[in-house]
Formats: sequence, structure tokens, C-alpha cells
Amino acid sequence: MKSKLPDIKETIFTTMNRASLEANAINLSQGFPGFQPDSRLRDLIAHFTQNGSNQYAPMMGIPALREAMSLKTEKCQGVKTDMDSEWTIVSGATQAVFSAVTAVVETGDEVIVLEPAFDSYVPAILLNGGIPIHVPLSLKDFSPDWDLIREKVSNKTKLIIVNTPHNPSGYVWTKNDLEELASLVEEFGLFVVSDEVYEHIIFDGREHYSLLSHPVLRQRTFVCGSFGKTFHITGWKIGFCVAIPELTVEFRKIHQYVTFTTVRPAQHALAEYLKLETYLGLPDFYEKKRNLFTDGLENSSLEFEPAQGSFFQQAQYGHLSQMPDRELALKMTRELKVACIPVSSFYADGSDHKIIRFCFAKNDDELIEATSRLENLDRLF
Ligand SMILES: Cc1ncc(COP(=O)(O)O)c(C=O)c1O
Repeated sequence: MKSKLPDIKETIFTTMNRASLEANAINLSQGFPGFQPDSRLRDLIAHFTQNGSNQYAPMMGIPALREAMSLKTEKCQGVKTDMDSEWTIVSGATQAVFSAVTAVVETGDEVIVLEPAFDSYVPAILLNGGIPIHVPLSLKDFSPDWDLIREKVSNKTKLIIVNTPHNPSGYVWTKNDLEELASLVEEFGLFVVSDEVYEHIIFDGREHYSLLSHPVLRQRTFVCGSFGKTFHITGWKIGFCVAIPELTVEFRKIHQYVTFTTVRPAQHALAEYLKLETYLGLPDFYEKKRNLFTDGLENSSLEFEPAQGSFFQQAQYGHLSQMPDRELALKMTRELKVACIPVSSFYADGSDHKIIRFCFAKNDDELIEATSRLENLDRLF
């Protein structure tokens, strides 16, 4: 059969998870928490499974969850959104991004993808007949290079995909980044898909500026998010898309034929749990883990800047060796028994800048043990 995605192979996450399992390594590769979610949330889903409805939820999500999210957005971003015409609950941010891209992109449309990029963006563009235009983020701090982006935007550009806080670098978009994007959006009539799954994981007193908070971007952006990252429940695969009514109408046309609706007891549990506002403690929770990990990493020969947000820490080793990053990641997994992700896998052309990514959403003892093993990194070269 002719493949619709001939260049897409096994994802690096599958490769590294398997390598980690085989080597019995500490798995800091894929981005998922290595600990249980709050027992109150687990009790809530058990309660709603036992006593609530286990049948289809409404297509756009249950009202209580959409209302809770609308209130949270007003509180956190100072933005009013309409729970009925602007919020859709979906089966994870991956589905939100896919549905938003599908709603916008037609055959031949160009889509700006800032690299390194999360791996689901490009397949979504290709399956819709779009043409990904890859633009590298600055290697200094992984901020968007606005001159370079401007060079690549033309009348053929339909959409730009944004991710803040950024996976894998942790870069957090500034107000100036939003202004730069807004001027491009106005000039070229672009749409935006903004992947904000790490919205609450942000450090050193920084703020997350959702694209919803900018009046121009608010009119053209599908903001996609995930409960998985915020509440340590990646396995529940539940997320959302928020956009103005005109965009939401088109988003829902796609969503209703991708999954139609999303797991119901989880929606009831999250609607209740959101009232506890536990997400307000998330920056502190993860900043401690980032500090624990980077304090340990100081004793290795890796170079790094502490992540600004997300639960990933990148590190460079180009001053030590020119070994390809994929080879290093596999060797590190087998010999030091610490698994990471080679960042070249976030570039369409496999650009290898000798950077690896660690996920620090793990128990403290695992992070301490992993960094003590990384003190022996030089043995690998
Ligand atoms: C940037 C980014 N977007 C989307 C996702 C996927 O989110 P979900 O599990 O809700 O589909 C991830 C998960 O790693 C991610 O890092």
C-alpha cells in the first residue's frame, strides 16, 4: 500500500522507551510523570465511574468542565472566554492540534513550524496536504528568530504553529514574541495553533502569556492544552481547544468526526478537582525538581542553561565529542543506564546540534541517582 506518510518511522519515544526498558535504565526520555497524581483526583474518577454516567459526554465536553476552564482562564490570564461557544474538550492536546490544523489547512497551504518541534505537528500538516516550512529557533536560547520567520512567511502561508513553554528547550515566549507574531498575523492574515500544554510549568517568577491574552492573536488562534501535563495524568489523554466562536465551529466539525467526544468520568472528576486550584502550586513543585536535577548536572561535564519552563532540561555535549546525539542517547542508556532523547529527532532534517533532553518529572531519588550516573559521562567518549 502507498504510504501517506512515507518518511515517518518509529518515533524516538518508542525507540528510547524500549532501549530504556531493555537496559533497565532510569527513563528520563519520554515526557510523563514518574509519580501518581493526587489521590483526591484518583478518588474523584473512581467516584464518577462508580456513581456517575459512563455513557457518551456531549460532543463539546460537559458544561461543568468547560465552565471551570473558562473561570480558570479568567483568573490566570485575565481573559474572558465563553464556555459554550469557545471551549471544546478533546482527547488530549495531540488531538486538539490535529483537529485545529485540519480545520485550517488546505492542499498547498504553507505552515510555519518552528524547530525543534513536537513530533505530531508535521504529520498533521502533511495529512492535510499542507507544506511544512521549517524555521529553526535561535540556538542561543531557543527564542523565535523573527527576522528568519519573516523571511519565510509569504502569501502562501496559512498557519504558524507555536509552542510555549517550549518542548524540548523550555523557552517561554515573552510579550515581545507575542507582539512580533501579532504583527505577522495582521499583515498576512495568518492563523495560529498555539500548543500551551506546559502553561502551568514555569519557573523563576516568569509568567506564561497565553496567545489568548493578546487581542489580535485572540481572533486568529486555536489554543490547545492538556490536563495530562498539569495534573500528572498523561495516560488519561484529555485536553482542550479554546478559540473564538467562528474558529470553534470549524474545529468542532473536525473533532466530531475524529473522536466525537471524550472520556466522561474523567471530565466530571476534573471539573470537581479544578475547584482545588492545585495548578497554582505547579511552578514551585517542578522548579524544585528542575533545581535538584540541574544541581546534580553541574557535576557532569554537560553544558546547559536551566530550563525556563516545561519539565524538560536540555544539555549540550558538543565541547566533549562529535558523536551523533542518537548514538550518544543509546550508549548512555545501555552503559550509564540513564535514558534521554536526542534533540535531532525534533528537526525534520535531523539537524544534530549535540543536544540531549532529559525529563525531570520523576521522583527525587531517581533524579539524584540519574545525575550521579551522569558524572561518568566522559567514559562514553
Ligand atoms: C509540546 C507538546 N504538545 C502536546 C503533547 C501531547 O499532549 P497530550 O498527551 O495531551 O496529547 C506533548 C506531550 O509530550 C507535548 O510535549
